[in-house]
This record gives sequence, C-alpha cells and structure tokens, in this order.
Amino acid sequence: MTKQEKYEQLLPQVCSLIEGEHDEVAVMSNVVAALHEAMGFFWTGFYRVKDGELLVGPFQGPTACFHIAYGRGVCGTAWKTGLTQVVPDVELFPGHIACSALSRSEIVVPLTDNKGEIRAVLDIDSKEVGTFDSTDQQQLERLCAAVSRQVYK
Ligand code: SME
Repeated sequence: MTKQEKYEQLLPQVCSLIEGEHDEVAVMSNVVAALHEAMGFFWTGFYRVKDGELLVGPFQGPTACFHIAYGRGVCGTAWKTGLTQVVPDVELFPGHIACSALSRSEIVVPLTDNKGEIRAVLDIDSKEVGTFDSTDQQQLERLCAAVSRQVYK
C-alpha cells in the first residue's frame, strides 16, 4: 500500500472512531494511537497550548519534553506561524528541540479553534531523514481539521 492509500484508509476510520466524542484528551489519545499503529511512526503526539506555552499531551513513543515555548523548536514555530512545518532533516532546522537523539525528520501541524486561535499541535517524528512530504501534510491537515471541529466547537 502506498502512503496515500494508507491515509485514505485510515482517515475515515479515525473520523468514525471519534464521532460523538468531544473531550480533547480522549479524542487526541485515540487519534495518536490509531495514527501511530497504522503508520508506524517513531513518535506521534499532541502538544496543547496551556498557560502561554505548549504542554505535552497524549502521545505514543518514547518520553518527550514537557514544555515548549512560543516560537521555539519545530512545535513552537508551528504555533507562532500557524503553518504546518515539514522538516526533512532536523539537524538543519535552527533551534530544533531534540527530545530524542534518534529523531531525524519531523512534521508539525497546528490545530485551530473556531475563533482562529491555535490550541494545539500534532507532532510526528521519524528515525529516518526525509520521511514527510506534501502527502503527509495534506492528509494530516485534514485529520487535524476533523479533530479541531470535534473538540473545539
Ligand atoms: N522536536 C520538537 C520537540 C518535540 S519532540 O520531537 C517530541 C521541536 O523541535 O519542537
């Protein structure tokens, strides 16, 4: 199966899994579990905006940094810019925060509420360089939009 096909199979399953659920942590927990299992990522998780910083939320994979400041690292940059960050090689991203020395590439997608505020980011790490591309970006942005509709209404 191609990556595109995997996402096309997974996204409707995840959307029906979270249908009717509105608790942020509950929804995020099952979304990361489904993504992590189906796609075989190294680290898959959410950071939520709390008290002016990003605080680690539901995730799968090795332990991670608790706090990330606004504008710092890949996650803080996604929060500040409101734009998905696709990082093919973390060593080339100035200020990248290495929660694990094994992480080599990364994608971070912001989640926005109905007032346009960034409320969380989805962060996915890979042990290989160049794992994430426009397919991941497009599919994960769709997924994050579905999660946001569900939990930030
Ligand atoms: N690498 C991220 C930090 C979070 S961990 O990858 C789980 C960053 O630079 O924001």
